[in-house]
Amino acid sequence: MSMSQPAFTQQELKQAAAVYAVDTFIRSGMIIGLGSGSTAELFIQELGRRVEAGTLTGLVTVSTSEKSSDLARSFGMVVKELADVETIDVTVDGADEIETANFGLTKGRGGALLREKLVATASKLQVIIADESKLVNQLGEKMPIPVEVIPFGWPHTAKRLKELGSEPALRLINGQPYLTDGQNYVLDCRFPPLNDPRGMANAIKGTVGVVEHGLFIDIAGRVVIAGNNGVYELEKTGQSR
Ligand code: A5P
Repeated sequence: MSMSQPAFTQQELKQAAAVYAVDTFIRSGMIIGLGSGSTAELFIQELGRRVEAGTLTGLVTVSTSEKSSDLARSFGMVVKELADVETIDVTVDGADEIETANFGLTKGRGGALLREKLVATASKLQVIIADESKLVNQLGEKMPIPVEVIPFGWPHTAKRLKELGSEPALRLINGQPYLTDGQNYVLDCRFPPLNDPRGMANAIKGTVGVVEHGLFIDIAGRVVIAGNNGVYELEKTGQSR
């Protein structure tokens, strides 16, 4: 995509990042983890077009949501269960926030955070694709942290998460609790920007009733960003913490 003209739409930027990821990271015969959300869907569609054209062959995919599985199958791609593969070569996914210095992420606005984390951590490489609007200095700056919790006694779990310094809100859809693919609830926890994302990730994970949270620390290996000046990869500048 030529980037000489300013003001691309967000959709065009996401598409440019998706095309870059397929060109750069995907080869025939790979086992590929498929993310969830609108940017990951553009990646799956780009992959699908190349499978249909016969320029990518022998791909096996593992998906992070039912929606992404359905999309991949619509292009004739093989979708396997995570339990049925030993490792994944590369997973490509979107993110809600990307901490530029350390590649920390907030994920889960689409509710697929548990499977996204399981697939990402089973992968040799996780590649994040996004437009520039997702970049932050500190996680929690723009988005609440989604926390997947067991429905049983969830208000007590919410109280414990409040004690960690957040304002938890039960995610609703049509007035009913939103259910994840694992049949759990999501509490969107608004924290002040996190000075110590790793410490908070551990504290949330150690809270009774929590299944998983949307802080991804030290998981992303490469970050592809599309902005009005072009598509580029972020350089990690921070110290691991
Ligand atoms: C899905 O649960 C999320 O983690 C998505 O990866 C994240 O919300 C990014 O989605 P978009 O690409 O739609 O912004």
